[in-house]
Amino acid sequence: MKILFVNASPKGERSVTLQTARYISKRYPNACEYSVLHAGARIKALEKDFTEAENAINAADAIIFVYPVYTFIAPYQLHRFIELTKDSEVSCKGKYCAQILTSKHFYDVTAMKYVEANALDLGMRYLGALSADMEDLRSEEGRYEAECFFERFLFDVAKGNYTEAPSHAPQAARPVYEPTLAEAKKSDGKDVVVVTNATTDDVNLRNMIEDFANACAYPVRVVNVRDFPFKGGCLGCFNCAISGKCVYNDGFEEFLKNDVQRADAIVYAFTISDHYTHSSFKLYDDRQFCNGHRTVTAGKVTGYIISGEYSKEANLRMIVEARANVSGMYFAGVAGNEGDTAKELAALAKTVRFALDKGLRAPQNFYGVGGTKIFRDLVYTMQGIMQADHAFYKAHGVYDFPQKKRGMILAMKFLGLLMRSTAVQKKMKGQMTKYMLMPYEKVLAKTTPKDVALPE
Ligand SMILES: Cc1cc2nc3c(=O)[nH]c(=O)nc-3n(C[C@H](O)[C@H](O)[C@H](O)COP(=O)(O)O)c2cc1C
Repeated sequence: MKILFVNASPKGERSVTLQTARYISKRYPNACEYSVLHAGARIKALEKDFTEAENAINAADAIIFVYPVYTFIAPYQLHRFIELTKDSEVSCKGKYCAQILTSKHFYDVTAMKYVEANALDLGMRYLGALSADMEDLRSEEGRYEAECFFERFLFDVAKGNYTEAPSHAPQAARPVYEPTLAEAKKSDGKDVVVVTNATTDDVNLRNMIEDFANACAYPVRVVNVRDFPFKGGCLGCFNCAISGKCVYNDGFEEFLKNDVQRADAIVYAFTISDHYTHSSFKLYDDRQFCNGHRTVTAGKVTGYIISGEYSKEANLRMIVEARANVSGMYFAGVAGNEGDTAKELAALAKTVRFALDKGLRAPQNFYGVGGTKIFRDLVYTMQGIMQADHAFYKAHGVYDFPQKKRGMILAMKFLGLLMRSTAVQKKMKGQMTKYMLMPYEKVLAKTTPKDVALPE
């Protein structure tokens, strides 16, 4: 079997993930023939001429996507490669497909699902993934897991254990949305920005944005990421972590700060394609790595205007909700065009206003708490390099290590000691839940009534 590793890391030969592919080809030299296409590092050349990729794909029986997780999904370069593959004449139908990804496991699951869904779109026989920590290959256990992945891959190919795309009903054709909402009276004092990648041809999305702006009680600015003169996608070079500056000199950091992050509410607007949106948006997402792991827009309001079959894109829904939650922004919701579009846009506009006026907050859920703990541990370990992140985490109380809760740990130890006594056990029997409620009872005892004007 001929295996093509599509290396989508922008770091090319220097990719950490690629080392696992190399390990496999060195460990199993006789099992298969191996070749590598440096799709990530060569994406600009492939955009001009896709022949090299077409030839490599045509010659392969199996394609293994090799890539780092970048901001919840795959690097921009892989998003672009998938677009180019779908737009080309090349057929991937019937080829085996798997993926090797490395990360710190922050939303590796959504990245995997994105690649899997696109492999199935391309008609490939999907077999599975190895999602490793970026350091795993350095340990015996990590190498063993890589071997298990590959031997299972060979086993599944031999036994025909693969997944193929389920047959879907064709997408319902939707008429282009026509703006219908009346221009709301605008108040000053808050700044709402819509960040979009709408093309001139995407009249539907443009009209949705226009109506959101009409319905919004605050002035709305529209920033189109396609208009920004990006010099390229994030290279994963970590220059920004060391010097605080991106190697590209295209002014993106200033643009991000001045045009986007200064807003009180940031609403993203896109049309779904390839299970996310056009790669121009991913280019924008990835370049925000210049913010490191700092939640610089925490406390602001966010929302989405999404055109397409959002209700059927479970993975995209997770990405949207998790992004809002991890960032500590207040999630005002999503307005789509699967139902009553005008009503959804009006509702989003009203909720954004309500959230801004009231200063609404919501607690982090599993998406936010889990994600933040991964970053907390990473930044703490890497504080020597990630200095800006470290200072931010110290200042914002992100270092909530359980080891620091000494009072609680001591109290639990003391309780544990007491509970060894059968006399105490007898006394406590059936009483634990009562003791656990005591602090809440104190809160409720102090709670006073608050008047709320019922919304009209
Ligand atoms: C722009 C950028 C975004 C990243 N986003 C994530 C992420 O969302 N989750 C995660 O766990 N790691 C993330 N990482 C870390 C990389 O996934 C990790 O360093 C990976 O092992 C690099 O592999 P490579 O050397 O093959 O490119 C990100 C790194 C960069 C540069």
